[in-house]
Amino acid sequence: MIALGSDHAGYDLKQEVIAYLKEKGVEYKDFGTHSKYSCDYPDFGEAAARAVASGECDRGILICGTGIGISMAANKVRGIRCANCSDCYSAEMSRRHNDANMLAIGARVVGGGLALKMVEVFLNTGFEGGRHDRRVKKIMDIEGR
Ligand code: RB5
Repeated sequence: MIALGSDHAGYDLKQEVIAYLKEKGVEYKDFGTHSKYSCDYPDFGEAAARAVASGECDRGILICGTGIGISMAANKVRGIRCANCSDCYSAEMSRRHNDANMLAIGARVVGGGLALKMVEVFLNTGFEGGRHDRRVKKIMDIEGR
């Protein structure tokens, strides 16, 4: 189950992501926003991030204008590693090396084609573990201090 969240700036691209997930038969839960009216990205970033952190959803995709604000909000939730990406290499490495559990995208930064490719890469790439596991654990240890 994939958690989705966006603000008004990310609403249209989120609809494209939803169409992509439907086509691929991937289950998702949309935590809003549900219209193009101006709203505040932390509300939806937090809601989707809490669903990932609790285990209700396996991973999440967040979209705002730049991907910056909504990823900042998500990364405040304990257990979340949200990567704001604008290219497929970063989206792939966020999974292989950082075990990112959320991907953030800037709808005003990248086009729909690249965004959907990043979603595909993010959802289909595994974590390499090994030395990266130690480093990711060190990131998560910071939450306890
Ligand atoms: C909204 O105008 C915009 O600030 C928001 O979508 C996002 O880019 C913030 O980081």
